[in-house]
Amino acid sequence: MSGGSRPADPLGLQPDEMRALGYWVVDRVVGHLEGIAESPAVVTGTPDELRAALGGPPPEDPGDPAAALRTLADVALAHMQHGEHPRNFARVPGPSSYAGVLGEWLATGFNAIAASWTGGSGPATVELVVIDWLRQLLGLPDTTEGILVSGGSLASVTALVVARNEVGAGTVYLSDQTHSSIVRGLFALGFPGSDVRVLTSDGRQRLSVEALREALDADRTAGRRPAIVIANAGTTNTGAVDPLPELAGICAAEGLWLHVDGAYGAPAALCDAGRRLLAGIERADSLVLDPHKWLFQPYDLGCLLVRRHGALERAFRTTPDYLADVTGVDDEVDLRDRGLELSRRGRGVKLWLTFRTYGVVRIRAAIAHGIGLAERAERLVAADPDWRVVTPAQLGIVTFTLRRPAAGRDAYDELAARAAGVAADGSAHLTTTRVSGTPVLRLCTINPRTTPDDITQTLAGLGVGSCIRRGAAG
Ligand SMILES: Cc1ncc(COP(=O)(O)O)c(C=O)c1O
Repeated sequence: MSGGSRPADPLGLQPDEMRALGYWVVDRVVGHLEGIAESPAVVTGTPDELRAALGGPPPEDPGDPAAALRTLADVALAHMQHGEHPRNFARVPGPSSYAGVLGEWLATGFNAIAASWTGGSGPATVELVVIDWLRQLLGLPDTTEGILVSGGSLASVTALVVARNEVGAGTVYLSDQTHSSIVRGLFALGFPGSDVRVLTSDGRQRLSVEALREALDADRTAGRRPAIVIANAGTTNTGAVDPLPELAGICAAEGLWLHVDGAYGAPAALCDAGRRLLAGIERADSLVLDPHKWLFQPYDLGCLLVRRHGALERAFRTTPDYLADVTGVDDEVDLRDRGLELSRRGRGVKLWLTFRTYGVVRIRAAIAHGIGLAERAERLVAADPDWRVVTPAQLGIVTFTLRRPAAGRDAYDELAARAAGVAADGSAHLTTTRVSGTPVLRLCTINPRTTPDDITQTLAGLGVGSCIRRGAAG
């Protein structure tokens, strides 16, 4: 290669400009994080106003990247729910950590790929290392392998492909509290409706062992072949944990595959309180967790762990001629052979940096903090005779309702109006849901930036009287 200057790249920017634009991005993001508690938790635009600022015909001529960056930050990124906001309690917020953001930026800057060993052995090793850290923290055996994907939905679909490949086609059992993405995944994978048994959960929103046994017996009697049990380690609605030890026992005795959806709740196993609730999680054949939820990663990042060595590759390995010379040998892992994606970014980098930066100790403390905040919210609601705790604080989620809605008002409408009220004044973001048909408000309190006072103020904003009095008393 000759040393001289290279011809101009039509997409190239000068190094000084690249630096200046990059530093602007860092300043803007850090400024956003510094002021987040005083900014609205969610802002929703109208299609017209957003299109007016962001749309138009394809830009034919080059533009000013600094101006375009400002438009993105001021308009596009200003109109969203902010996962990092300390009073965003809606669904499952994504309270990402700055170490995670830095890791994401660095990996993207290098266009990190983790598909074939030859082309991405560094990012692949990072991914394999973080998967093994998660395995150890969750207590699965060292036969366990895994893959990082976009999130819980795809991780469970990937798991179900593996499960069917290992145990064969048959009937799948799950509770009515299982995340909707799993039922959608089963149908997308071609599981016929007659092979999907959605069982009514018990009074604590858990998969009923009794109902499972009855369904297994009935199906066997009818000549069906039970194959997979799907358990929840923290449901989205209430944080309920299915009876994992009993389910693992049944699956082991009957040769069924136990898939555990811990997309939301599994990281809680890092701290003592969560570990107690999640006992038995380590017996899963496949386990999903979402680092973009409770491991403080920016979107997107889901993880699948599979206990049986080689099961992922048995389900997904392909050997086209054009990949023959980028195929690893011996213990070199081609991550493209563990899932549905060929080109795939080095997703592990941000999580690796997060663990190296904070250590398990601080991550564990952050998770325990979230569990404690929901317990505080439960106590405050319980102290108000006008409100009722519907499901107690479980893994950072609590649900509650008004005992009597205002005269002439539908119970759901009343709760929705109160949630809309705190969203409209920007002070907080939370959502309604239903528990066994009862309309409730729901708080998911996993953000380590959330303070006890954020909980008190949010409840006061919703009209929880004990909090209003407390607020007035300072
Ligand atoms: C329990 C559970 N499973 C699966 C999912 C789907 O995960 P994702 O949105 O990352 O695809 C969620 C999302 O909130 C969840 O809470």
